[in-house]
Amino acid sequence: MKAIVVTDQAAGRAGMTLTERPEPPAAINDVIVEVHASGFVPTEMDWPSTWTDRRDRDRTPSIPGHELAGVVSALGYGTTGLSVGQRVFGLTDWHRDGTLAEYVAVEARNLAPLPGDVDFTVGASLPISGLTAWQGLFQHGRLQAGQSVLVHGAAGAVGSMVTQLAREFGAYVIGTGRHADRQKTLDFGAQEFVDLENDTLDDVGGVDLVFDVIGADIQKRSAGLVRAGGTVVTIVGPPVARPANGWAVDFVVEADRAQLNEIVARVRDGRLRTNIGTVATLDDAVAALNPTERSKGKTIIRVRP
Ligand SMILES: NC(=O)c1ccc[n+]([C@@H]2O[C@H](COP(=O)([O-])OP(=O)(O)OC[C@H]3O[C@@H](n4cnc5c(N)ncnc54)[C@H](OP(=O)(O)O)[C@@H]3O)[C@@H](O)[C@H]2O)c1
Repeated sequence: MKAIVVTDQAAGRAGMTLTERPEPPAAINDVIVEVHASGFVPTEMDWPSTWTDRRDRDRTPSIPGHELAGVVSALGYGTTGLSVGQRVFGLTDWHRDGTLAEYVAVEARNLAPLPGDVDFTVGASLPISGLTAWQGLFQHGRLQAGQSVLVHGAAGAVGSMVTQLAREFGAYVIGTGRHADRQKTLDFGAQEFVDLENDTLDDVGGVDLVFDVIGADIQKRSAGLVRAGGTVVTIVGPPVARPANGWAVDFVVEADRAQLNEIVARVRDGRLRTNIGTVATLDDAVAALNPTERSKGKTIIRVRP
C-alpha cells in the first residue's frame, strides 16, 4: 500500500516520504480500515510514541496521522460492533502505524460509525479536535452552564470546537488569538475576543475555566484570572502555572465512541462546524504537511480522492 513514513526524528515533518509499505495485519478486536481521509497534528513528530512502541523499542519507519474517516475492509479475530463495508471515523493508537496510508489497523472500540451524509473529509477532521474539546471542557474542566471560559487559540482546530461546545452548553466564551483571528473567533460563537498581539489579558476579569492550547507565558498570565475553585486545562504538556485557589490539568486526548457519536450528531444538525484549512491528496501530502506559510485550520489528506 502507499503510505507516508518517517524515519528520522531530527528531520521531523521535513523527513516525510511517500513510499510502499506492507498492508497491516488485523490483531484481536481490530478492524482494518480502507482510509479515505486522514488528519494530522504537527506535534506528533515530537511525541515518543511516533518513534517507539510501548516497550520503548524503535518502531521506525513509522506512519504518522492518527485520525481518520474510511470504510471497514476486514475484521480481526473476535471483533464485534462494526462490520465490513461500514463507514467509520475515529482516533487511532499513538504507538501504532497511523492513518496517512491506504489501510490502517485499529481497535474497533476506537471508532464510531460515520453517517452517510457526513463527508469523509469532514469525518477525518473531527476526532482529535472534537474529542479534545469535549474531554477538556466536560471531563477535565467540569464545565457548568453559566460559567465563563477563556479559550486560547479560539480560531484554531481545537479552540474552535471548544468555543462552539462551550457556547452550546451555556457558558460565556471569551476567545483569544492573533489580531487577524478576531472575526473568525466571533463567527465560531465567542462573545468576546482578546487580541493576544495587542490587548492585555488583565482586562478579562475572572473566569471559571481557561482552555489553553498555547502554553508558556500565555498560560502563566491566564492562571491568575481563574476564580476560586476554577481550572486551567492545558493540552500542550504539564502545566507551567496553577491558579492560586484552583486546579491545573493537562491531558492527552483518548478515543471514545460515545463522544464521537455526540460530536458527529452536532455536525449533522448544524450545532458544530468543523475548521478545515488545506485539503490535499496522498500524492501531495508531504508538501501539504510542510507548508511554506502557516496554514489555518486542519490539514486533511484525501487518501482516496
Ligand atoms: N494533548 C492533546 O491531546 C492534544 C490534542 C490536540 C492538539 N494538541 C496540541 O494543541 C495545540 C493546538 O492544536 P490545534 O490543532 O488547535 O492547532 P491550531 O489549529 O494551530 O490552533 C492553535 C491556534 O492558536 C493560535 N496561536 C498559537 N500561538 C499563539 C500566540 N502566541 N498568540 C496568539 N495566537 C496563537 C494559532 O494561531 P497561528 O496559527 O496564527 O499561530 C491558532 O489559531 C498543538 O500544540 C497541538 O499539538 C494536543
